[in-house]
Amino acid sequence: MEQFMSSRVARRTGVFALAVVLLVNAYLFSQRWPIHLRSTNSSVSSPGDSTSTTALAPTHPISGNVGSATAVPEVLSPVLPSLAKQQSTYLRSLFERLDSVKPDCSGPRLRKDAGGTGYEPVEPRPRPDYISNADDLREPLTKSHEDFVAGIKEISDLPYHSGTRGIVSSAGGDYMPTFISSLRMIRRTGCTLPVEVFLIDWDEYEPYICDVVLPTLNAKCIVLQEMLEDAHILKDEDSVKIEGYQIKPFAMILSSFDTFIWMDSDCIPLYDPEVLLDAEPFTSTGLVTWPDFWQNSASSLYFNISGQPEPSMLERASTESGIVLMSKQKHAQTLALCVYYNYWGPDYYWTLLGQGAYGSGGDKETFVQAASALGADFYAVSEPIADAKYLSSTGDYMFGAMVQADPREDYKLTRQGIWRVLDRGLAKAPSVFFVHASNPKFNAGSDILDLLQFADGEWGRVWAGPDHVTSRFGYDIEKPYWEELMNVTCSLEHAFIAWQHKRGLCESVQKYWNSTIINPDTPLPPFVNETVVHNITSPVASAGKEASSPTPIPPVR
Ligand SMILES: *[C@@H]1O[C@H](CO)[C@@H](O)[C@H](O)[C@H]1NC(C)=O
Ligand SMILES: *[C@@H]1O[C@H](CO)[C@@H](O)[C@H](O)[C@H]1NC(C)=O
Ligand SMILES: *[C@@H]1O[C@H](CO)[C@@H](O)[C@H](O)[C@H]1NC(C)=O
Ligand SMILES: *[C@@H]1O[C@H](CO)[C@@H](O)[C@H](O)[C@H]1NC(C)=O
Repeated sequence: MEQFMSSRVARRTGVFALAVVLLVNAYLFSQRWPIHLRSTNSSVSSPGDSTSTTALAPTHPISGNVGSATAVPEVLSPVLPSLAKQQSTYLRSLFERLDSVKPDCSGPRLRKDAGGTGYEPVEPRPRPDYISNADDLREPLTKSHEDFVAGIKEISDLPYHSGTRGIVSSAGGDYMPTFISSLRMIRRTGCTLPVEVFLIDWDEYEPYICDVVLPTLNAKCIVLQEMLEDAHILKDEDSVKIEGYQIKPFAMILSSFDTFIWMDSDCIPLYDPEVLLDAEPFTSTGLVTWPDFWQNSASSLYFNISGQPEPSMLERASTESGIVLMSKQKHAQTLALCVYYNYWGPDYYWTLLGQGAYGSGGDKETFVQAASALGADFYAVSEPIADAKYLSSTGDYMFGAMVQADPREDYKLTRQGIWRVLDRGLAKAPSVFFVHASNPKFNAGSDILDLLQFADGEWGRVWAGPDHVTSRFGYDIEKPYWEELMNVTCSLEHAFIAWQHKRGLCESVQKYWNSTIINPDTPLPPFVNETVVHNITSPVASAGKEASSPTPIPPVR
């Protein structure tokens, strides 16, 4: 709380000081060049920002005839409301609709949880059906869903800077150190896209990280709570709170980009991800998602109330939403419906869409289902998710990370009718494009080094196998990630709020690096291509600099 107050006060004080400086400058400026200023002042309509408009207007040193029409340029561009104002308008309009369609019933109750049934598209299975009060919910939920969809066009236009691209993420508290290592990995691929990272509220705002560190990486923090307050949405004590997984669709909606790549804070790309935005399947659909391990466990009730025919269980797996590619131009309505599913998610839709299956109870299914309910295009990558594993102290291979395929290669195969999901022997597996390092997290303050330590005190690699997965990496992606983790840990060890009470993190990571990553005696997983490794571990140039000096990274393929 103290942190919250102090960071907030500090920001407000900063804004106030800046305003004073600007006003003083404006005053001095007007004293020195009174004629230039007055020449256009009276005729330019510029709510909120007369200084800059005036300063930009053409001036003539001797045109002192104040208010004369001839001194005014003939064509004035309309003064557009700022993005922030448009976002407030949009939010108010969206929340009004969300609240007006509150389902008039209790939430779904489950007879049992859908659990963790893997996606096996070979044998047909019945759709899990565990909602015990479906008949009581059918009518009120159908009405709520229908009303929202019917009014979706009346929500004011989704605002964004047309033609822009960027990366969006969220990373408060414990996620912030992980996010910065991931961000440095993004930069290391040569990617220069601007990054917007959303925080739930001012408690999560770390002034040093947000104001000093992130700008050098072309990234900035955005506080969701502030945007909701500016739109006067958080006024009501008993209004629905936005928390946990709900931040993702809101961050997507409120990011400034037209086209964006969503990446969870613990996701890294192996190559510059911007190339995916210029290629199929993204260019035609504007929405690309990746699969999870589990079968899709959305309830029959969900398909019924959203007016969709119930798809076969074979059609696609559930979604792993750590990475999502999206075009707002194409999917403004998808995003609005997705927000509806998440706003009414904890009470209704998360259960309807997952029935308590592993990993459900969040935003994951809401992107694909929103698009499909609206009949909008999307591409759900078919190549099954894979997992990279580490060797635990007991000698067992343990889950280490989720591995996702290059959507371009997947698309090429599926367009030819080659479905590796049915038969892995039909074609070579697509390259890996993203790794979602969800457990353990690449964060020196987490338990990562404990998990990787064997009984004899030696450490193992985090993505040590299996061969058929790690060989698809093409190069030793783990090595640069550790390097970035070490950099973040050693340069920011005392900066993160999450690490306040941690000691010796830098030294531990250096020890791991020395003994395991660069030790030539350590057995290496089969992904190592020495040629590439040699290139990629050359000194990092991109972090903090512009794209002029991209770090060598292996070409795709
Ligand atoms: C939803 O279920 C009801 C009752 O089973 C049925 O009459 C109706 O046709 C279904 N609607 C859709 C869109 O499947
Ligand atoms: C981290 O990397 C930057 C360059 O990106 C470098 O200037 C800095 O010295 C590094 N810090 C540590 C502690 O490795
Ligand atoms: C790691 O190795 C470097 C270079 O040999 C050395 O300077 C450093 O002290 C070592 N750090 C640890 C913690 O072992
Ligand atoms: C390693 O990478 C280089 C450069 O991309 C490539 O020429 C070479 O064939 C690769 N070696 C192996 C064993 O895959």
